[in-house]
Amino acid sequence: MQTIAFYNHKGGVGKTTLLFNLGIALQSQGKKVLFVDGDAQANLTSIALRDEQIEEVYDSEQTIYHGLAPLVEGSGDIEIVRPIEIRDNAWVLPGHINLSVFEEIAPEGWTSALAGNPRGFRVSTAVHRLTRGVAAQVGAEYILLDLGPNVGAFNRAALLAADGFVIPMSPDLFSLTALPSVGESVSRWVDEWRIATNSASRRGLKLGFDLPVGSPVPLGYISQQFAVYREQPAKAYKRWVNQIPAQYVAGVVEPLAEAGVRHPEREGKIGEVRNLSSLIPMAQRNRSAVFELTGTLARGAQFTRARDTYNLFADLAGEVLNRLDETL
Ligand SMILES: Nc1ncnc2c1ncn2[C@@H]1O[C@H](COP(=O)(O)OP(=O)(O)O)[C@@H](O)[C@H]1O
Ligand SMILES: [Mg+2]
Repeated sequence: MQTIAFYNHKGGVGKTTLLFNLGIALQSQGKKVLFVDGDAQANLTSIALRDEQIEEVYDSEQTIYHGLAPLVEGSGDIEIVRPIEIRDNAWVLPGHINLSVFEEIAPEGWTSALAGNPRGFRVSTAVHRLTRGVAAQVGAEYILLDLGPNVGAFNRAALLAADGFVIPMSPDLFSLTALPSVGESVSRWVDEWRIATNSASRRGLKLGFDLPVGSPVPLGYISQQFAVYREQPAKAYKRWVNQIPAQYVAGVVEPLAEAGVRHPEREGKIGEVRNLSSLIPMAQRNRSAVFELTGTLARGAQFTRARDTYNLFADLAGEVLNRLDETL
């Protein structure tokens, strides 16, 4: 079982859309995929489930928040909730706006893990234990973890739960400047987690659950061409695009390598997603991947364009998995 997080401090760069389409491409190849909505905005949930289904899972308490709630409320530990089946071999652990309450207990949990306190480890590994527990229940092989654009405590717990992470980014100045901040925070979390786990093992702390290694491999970035700020001058755009490879190495790969995290021996860029314009909202309304749109929904040339995105997403997904295999 492998967990891949999609992470960038910058929002609106197409993380959620990309993650969903890559995951469905994997599913259509017979892989078993669990989508986890780790963003309180729950966009992944709304592209995976219909409104009635969302209401149902809130009622039946089958969301990521409900999985964490007993721990958050102090009444117990995480609860392995049942994910929702959205295809053969594909499930979603839905998101919830209350996920943000985890942020309230997580910082203290982190400090107390650093101080060697068992509750601290329980809280700091909650995302790891919950996502793996949910995936194990249905036999999922891949956990795709969608995250909000911030450096909050939930994301820290999520990155420690990840075997690798992909940075979806737009080729513009904002994404360029976000890269070093992604690298800086993730490498700091890795360092701190190592201190915590080393001291736990030195003291022979008995926790009753496995601790994640906490070494998320930077798998690379996916350039999202649609998200380019339309008005940006061509010259400036070129200059930023040209800076991305070096900035990715210096800002992400190197700080993580210093923290002892492996990386694939390949260029940072995994690939590119072009502007799919109206196909994206069309697929979202249909709760489908773009390439799943049928001839009745997308007509003529639009249908062909939609269908042809299968190769794009399948190739990107294949490359992500190869990079992960290579570094494990
Ligand atoms: N390849 C694409 N082409 C055109 N529009 C896209 C594409 N991917 C995403 N979008 C649109 O961009 C917006 C942000 O996408 P989203 O996946 O929600 O980003 P994020 O998760 O980074 O906030 C959405 O309105 C979505 O419909
Ligand atoms: Mg999103």
